[in-house]
Amino acid sequence: MASCTTVLVCCLLLVFILAQLFAYNKLSVMKNFPSFQTSQLSDEEALLELPLLCSRLDIKLYLLDMKCLDYVQSHNPKHAKDLLLEDQFDKFYSFGMDGKNIHFFQAQIDPLLQIKGFDIIYIRNIQPEQLPRPTFKNKVVTILLKKQDLIFHIYVLHPREGFWWVGSVTSDPYLSGHLNTLGLSLADHVYEVNSERALEKFQSKPFAQIPGLYIPDNITHFLTEFRASKFKECPVSKARMFSKEHRYITSQAFRFMHKSYKLLSRVASIMYHSNVEFWLSSGTCLGKFCIQFHHHKGSR
Ligand SMILES: *[C@@H]1O[C@H](CO)[C@@H](O)[C@H](O)[C@H]1NC(C)=O
Repeated sequence: MASCTTVLVCCLLLVFILAQLFAYNKLSVMKNFPSFQTSQLSDEEALLELPLLCSRLDIKLYLLDMKCLDYVQSHNPKHAKDLLLEDQFDKFYSFGMDGKNIHFFQAQIDPLLQIKGFDIIYIRNIQPEQLPRPTFKNKVVTILLKKQDLIFHIYVLHPREGFWWVGSVTSDPYLSGHLNTLGLSLADHVYEVNSERALEKFQSKPFAQIPGLYIPDNITHFLTEFRASKFKECPVSKARMFSKEHRYITSQAFRFMHKSYKLLSRVASIMYHSNVEFWLSSGTCLGKFCIQFHHHKGSR
């Protein structure tokens, strides 16, 4: 009887010790983040929290919200609460983050944000209209965070050939389910910010007194670029099919190609010498380039 009680006491003791160890582990995670509190956050605290957690891991969070940036430019606000005034931003804020940080974000920032009461969803490039390169398949393209009625939308900026690529949220077949879990809808919350984009890699500077938050160095330039940054992936499989179908060309077609090539190179040379920037925006030449480009990239 006595030994039975001893075993029971030992078991209880063991459970107690394990519970302590578990709690200690949790605390040691929190020690890296001294401002950690589980209390309710105000909108302002929530707006400060996200960039602050990012800054602890040296992740730059860019404020890329068009309305906010317009406001920053005209009013030069100094505090986070200035961005929350009068509901002028519909409690919806767009940010950007370099795609190379996404694993850090998911592993280290996500759990802390969840403890703080943020709901988080990740939208992935699962079924894009055109697949860019296999490396971008299933990559997170957008992060959505919700805290009370505040929504933070983060463009994940994937480095590509000299620019940042932003994928479209509609490439994720689970999108509407994800949005439902946050009580959001495509039409009301995401449609406006959804577009596949190629963004110039901009220089940035710290924003006001918000640690971890950055804004583009030249806001005018950024806004102009952003509005024109719609991107269409090269339809490489279609282009390949076309060139396969038209492998054998007649001598007449060959002469035509030769003439077109001469004309294009003449135009290019004149433009080059007059310092006029120009580019192919559509057509057969671009299709040809698209195949060679992909072939080249793929063979590396
Ligand atoms: C900012 O960008 C605009 C538009 O591209 C340009 O005209 C202006 O010179 C730039 N300002 C600075 C300080 O570089």
